[in-house]
Amino acid sequence: MRDLQDDIAQVLIDETTLADRIQGMAAQIEADYADSDDLLLICVLKGAYMFLSDLSRALTRPHHLDFMGISSYGRGTTSSGAVQIIMDLKIPLDGRHVLIVEDIIDSGRTLSYMKRSLLARSPASLRICTLLNKPARREVEVDVDYVGFDIPDEFVVGYGLDFDELYRNLPYIAVLKPELFAHLR
Ligand code: IMP
Ligand code: MG
Repeated sequence: MRDLQDDIAQVLIDETTLADRIQGMAAQIEADYADSDDLLLICVLKGAYMFLSDLSRALTRPHHLDFMGISSYGRGTTSSGAVQIIMDLKIPLDGRHVLIVEDIIDSGRTLSYMKRSLLARSPASLRICTLLNKPARREVEVDVDYVGFDIPDEFVVGYGLDFDELYRNLPYIAVLKPELFAHLR
């Protein structure tokens, strides 16, 4: 049986480093929302599912969850630029304190589109929390409130992030061997 670990060139962020940082982010979120009874986390599917699950467990305060399916990538490793909602929220946002939970911000197109679309639904507040940020690749300016890690311009997989729908289950953030995706870049 093929082992996904054989395709990894380098582990960029290991499991304990992820866990420690997510505890820190949760503590910061708890402090910032201490005065509001309401907090709704919106997980951007599919990439943010693992981060959402660990962030949600690291929060001790009450909060609600909802999920949104967004598609912005084809088979390659760079954004097509076209963002599409493929599964919408179940909960209305009016008057809610909303925190978008995303895996990675790259060009900024996905989050900029989501922010516009969710602001139109009249939330009481809207903030963004991303595990990873690639500042070198930003094409569209987006204010991000919580960033786990700034990373270099490398295509990464694991901890929810995929390449061609694989590698999401790796428990760490890793860089793939370049020969696996060089033809697509
Ligand atoms: P943006 O719209 O260019 O900011 O891209 C955001 C989306 O692209 C993320 O939600 C990811 O799903 C995907 N993405 C961007 N960079 C990577 C990466 O290095 N590995 C895996 N997915 C990525
Ligand atoms: Mg994503």
